[in-house]
This record gives sequence, structure tokens and C-alpha cells, in this order.
Amino acid sequence: MCFLFLSCTPLFTSATTTTVQGLQPRCESHIFNNGKHYRSCKDLPVLDSFLHFSYARETGVLDVAYRHANLESSSWIAWAINPTKKGMLGAQALVAYRNSTSGVMRAYTSNINSYATMLQESPLSFRVTQVSAEYLDGEMTIFATMVLPPNTTVVNHLWQDGPLKEGDRLGMHAMSGDHLKS
Ligand SMILES: *[C@@H]1O[C@H](CO)[C@@H](O)[C@H](O)[C@H]1NC(C)=O
Ligand SMILES: *[C@@H]1O[C@H](CO)[C@@H](O)[C@H](O)[C@H]1NC(C)=O
Repeated sequence: MCFLFLSCTPLFTSATTTTVQGLQPRCESHIFNNGKHYRSCKDLPVLDSFLHFSYARETGVLDVAYRHANLESSSWIAWAINPTKKGMLGAQALVAYRNSTSGVMRAYTSNINSYATMLQESPLSFRVTQVSAEYLDGEMTIFATMVLPPNTTVVNHLWQDGPLKEGDRLGMHAMSGDHLKS
């Protein structure tokens, strides 16, 4: 987890993105297949992840895309804001995975209240609309619009990936370094 400073101007992006397969295109140069466009983006420090967003502070409306590169299709991803504290408990998450039978992406919200969570669908503490996801060229992305309390300027955010098990159950994420740093 780390702090994300929301603003209407582009954020400084981290130069520490690590990749396994050479240089990952930085988030500024990414073009979304569905034509979506965001004012700001941030290369996240671990898990080949990128956060694209447009934020209107006066209304709290946050239009966001969380993108995870270099990912197997049999994976789930999640991106969350924790409005009350750091870490996983209380996190208000967006979750996505690809249905292994139909190939159709499923994207939904999950209010995380236990370390033993199965990331089951539940409403968040704030309004979320237009949740969708795509999997393309080894990248999985969740798109959503969230309504934060007006004038929010700093949030705790966290992100994760894990394996999809038999019957499309969401398996536990790894407990190694980057999965704990995220
Ligand atoms: C995946 O898609 C199949 C076929 O449409 C459906 O029967 C199944 O319930 C879906 N699985 C999940 C976990 O949503
Ligand atoms: C947001 O901040 C502005 C400027 O500081 C203030 O005028 C406005 O009343 C605040 N809005 C809310 C909902 O707190």
C-alpha cells in the first residue's frame, strides 16, 4: 500500500517500475483499446501495475483504470481504496477476473472485512458506477467511476493479483515481497 495524492494535474511518476521482460511502456504512452482517456497516471512500484485516473476534487468523482501487465489470463486482480486505515481490512475493492469457460470478464466490487476474504461481491461504502474489465495482450484492466467524499485529496490505496482456481474460485494471493508491498 502507499499514499496516492489525487490532483487535477499529472502526478510525478515513479522511475522504479520493475519488469521481467525489458522495458514496460510508461503509463503516459498507454492507449486504451476502448477509447477511454484519463488526465493522470502513475506507474505503481510493484506488480507491473499502472493507475490511470481523472479526479474532480469538488465533486469527489474519480474515474479510474487499474491496469496490470504481464499477467496470465487465469488470474484475478483487485485495486482498492481504504478510506479508514492502511492495509487490507476495510479496503473498498474493485475486483476482476476472466471466466475460464466463457472468456467473459467479470468485474465487481467487494468490501473487504476479513483477511480470509474470498473477495465475494458486496457494495462499497461509496457509490461506484460503470465497473468493467478487459483482458488484452497479457494485461488485465478494471475500469470504474467512484464517488469519494468531496474535497478528498489523499487516499490509501492497494492492489493485488492472485490465481484463479478450479470453478473460477479466487485463490489466495502470494505472500512474497511484492504482494505485501502493494
Ligand atoms: C462462467 O460462465 C459460464 C458460462 O456462461 C457460467 O455458467 C458460469 O456460472 C460462469 N462462472 C462464474 C464463476 O461466473
Ligand atoms: C471543498 O473545498 C472548497 C474550497 O476549500 C470549499 O469552498 C467547499 O465548501 C468544500 N466542499 C465541501 C463539500 O466540503
